[in-house]
Amino acid sequence: MTARIQRISTRDDFVIEQDWSSYTPDEHAVWDLLYARQTALLPGRADAAMIDGLKALDLGRGGIPDFRIVNEELNKLTGWTVVAVPGLVPDDVFFDHLANRRFPAGQFIRTRDQLNYLEEPDIFHDVFGHVPLLTNPVFADYMQAYGQGGQRAMKFGRLKNLGALYWYTVEFGLIETPKGLRIYGAGISSSADESHFALEDLSPNRIRFDLERVMRTSYRIDDFQQTYFVIKSYDELFRATVDTDFAPLYDRLGSGPQYTPEDIASGDAVITTGTQAYARSRAGG
Ligand code: PHE
Ligand code: FE
Repeated sequence: MTARIQRISTRDDFVIEQDWSSYTPDEHAVWDLLYARQTALLPGRADAAMIDGLKALDLGRGGIPDFRIVNEELNKLTGWTVVAVPGLVPDDVFFDHLANRRFPAGQFIRTRDQLNYLEEPDIFHDVFGHVPLLTNPVFADYMQAYGQGGQRAMKFGRLKNLGALYWYTVEFGLIETPKGLRIYGAGISSSADESHFALEDLSPNRIRFDLERVMRTSYRIDDFQQTYFVIKSYDELFRATVDTDFAPLYDRLGSGPQYTPEDIASGDAVITTGTQAYARSRAGG
């Protein structure tokens, strides 16, 4: 196994050329494999906004998407663009990109022995997982507002709390639809195993989204989630976050309860209907 060549940026926004022509046939094949596997799983599991976005951007035309082509369509739809970065970027750089409707996506793709898990977000996680929802106008605005909110959270020293909001919505959010619970978080939709687990496993809590509750909750980055927070709509998420001044909230968060991913709080609305009931009936319970 050879380590991937880490590209570096000479720019202070960490942006690099995607250099699409440098991907090898095998790297394109890894994208195709992951794409086929996830798109087979998503009907009936992923929210319509995700599936519509995948179609609108035509991310399955074959091989790793060329950002120049993706951006033509994405920019027309919501004014967002995808830019390539070497990997994780510093918080302030990340927030600045989002605040300017640029989504920084890892330029590299995982190797075949990392199909199910890797530590750093690669182009499959970032582009397949995150970018489709950026075609949804409300979600697109939420992401921009989050970037602006990040710059503010840094001043308050509350990045951990704001990070929990990102984690439990953008990365691991579920949404309640008339047809049942659906995935919209990129950490779920880009993972075969967690696409099953988040909806069908009986062990995790599925709790109605509440802004302050979420921001008081720690999160684990190295295992499936033990709690998923469920929104009713992107509009609910937008209203709860964008229409709220976080300054008094940040003041409050310095004291009061903190929750682990396993905890259920007394005020939680725990959701046990929909897919979970279906899973239980299939498990014979
Ligand atoms: N309304 C938040 C604030 O006052 C900003 C924000 C918007 C944060 C959307 C997250 C998501 O800081
Ligand atoms: Fe992500």
